[in-house]
Amino acid sequence: MADNKRPETMERITTPQLAEAFIDQQVAAIQKQVGSKKVLLALSGGVDSSVVAALLIKAIGQQLVCVHVNHGLLRKGEPEQVVEVFRNQMNANLIYVDAVDRFLDKLAGVDNPETKRKIIGAEFIRVFEEEARKLEGIEFLAQGTIYPDILESDGVKAHHNVGGLPEDLQFELVEPVKLLFKDEVRVVGKALGLPDSMVFRQPFPGPGLGVRCLGAITRDRLEAVRESDAILREEFAKNGLEGKVWQYFTAIPDLKSVGIREGKRTDQWCVIIRAVNTTDAMTATVEPIPFPLLQHITARITAEVEGVNRVLYDLTPKPTGTIEWE
Ligand code: XMP
Repeated sequence: MADNKRPETMERITTPQLAEAFIDQQVAAIQKQVGSKKVLLALSGGVDSSVVAALLIKAIGQQLVCVHVNHGLLRKGEPEQVVEVFRNQMNANLIYVDAVDRFLDKLAGVDNPETKRKIIGAEFIRVFEEEARKLEGIEFLAQGTIYPDILESDGVKAHHNVGGLPEDLQFELVEPVKLLFKDEVRVVGKALGLPDSMVFRQPFPGPGLGVRCLGAITRDRLEAVRESDAILREEFAKNGLEGKVWQYFTAIPDLKSVGIREGKRTDQWCVIIRAVNTTDAMTATVEPIPFPLLQHITARITAEVEGVNRVLYDLTPKPTGTIEWE
C-alpha cells in the first residue's frame, strides 16, 4: 500500500518546530477523514496510543471515545495516570474498564507462558469488543501503529498476539503516526503536552506484568512484583539511572525459600531485579548497578513488599537470557 510507505523526502521529526508542523498537518488530515463521526481508541497509556489519543483530542475533541482496559497487569500508578492525564487534564471522553477480576480469573492456574499471553490477548479483545458494542455511531478505529510495526509485520499492531475485532465490528482505521519512528513519536508527544513519564517511558510488554509473574499468576505474587517494580523505578529515578538504563524491572518466580525475620523462620517469595541496556532489544548487556544501591533496593523490597524475603540480581546478558523472564 503506497500510503504505508514513508516517502524518502519525509524529514525526520527531531525538533518541537517539526513536531508542531506534523501535528497541524495531522489534525487537518484527521478532521478531513473523520468529519463529524466518532472514533474509538484502545488507550493503554503506552507512548503510541497516548500520542494518538492526544492528537485526536486536539483534532476532534469529544468525538473521540477512549477505552482504557485495566487488566490488572499494569505497573503501579499507570491506570490512575491514564485517567488523570486524559480525563482530568485533557478532558477526553474516556471509558475506564476495571477488568482486573475477569483477567485474573481467566488466568488462574495457567502456567504456560504462551497460553498466558493468548488468554490476555483474547480477553483484551473481548473486553474491548463489549465496550465497542455498547457505543453507538462509531465508524472509525484509531490505532497507535508506528512505522516499525509496518516494516516488521503486516501493518497491524501486533500487541496482543491474537487477531482483531470480529467481522461485524470492522471500522475504518485512523493511524496518524503510522509513518513515524519511535523517537519521532516521542517528540510529537512532548509537543502535544504529554508528561515525560508517559512520553519517555521504557518498553513494556502488551501482556504487562503477566510475563513477569512467572508460572500461574496469583494475586499475592502479582502485587509483590508490582510493588517491587515501583520501588526499583523510584530508586532509579532518585539515583539518576532513569533515562540512562534502557529497561529495568523486577520479576517474581514461583519459588519460595526459607528466610528469617525478627527471629522467626519465614517461607516467602524471592524477587529478581533485571536492568539492561540495548539498542535494538536483540542483544542486551547488564547495567552495572552500584552495589550500595543494590543493597538499598534489596533492603527496601524485603522491608516494604509483603511476602518477599530475598532479592536476586540477574547478571545474564542477552544472549543467553532474554530480557524478560517469562
Ligand atoms: P525479550 O524478552 O524477547 O524482549 O528479550 C525483547 C523486548 O521486547 C519486549 N517485549 C514485548 N513488547 N509486546 C511488546 O510490545 C510484547 O508482548 C512483548 N514481550 C516482550 C521486552 O520487554 C523487551 O524490551
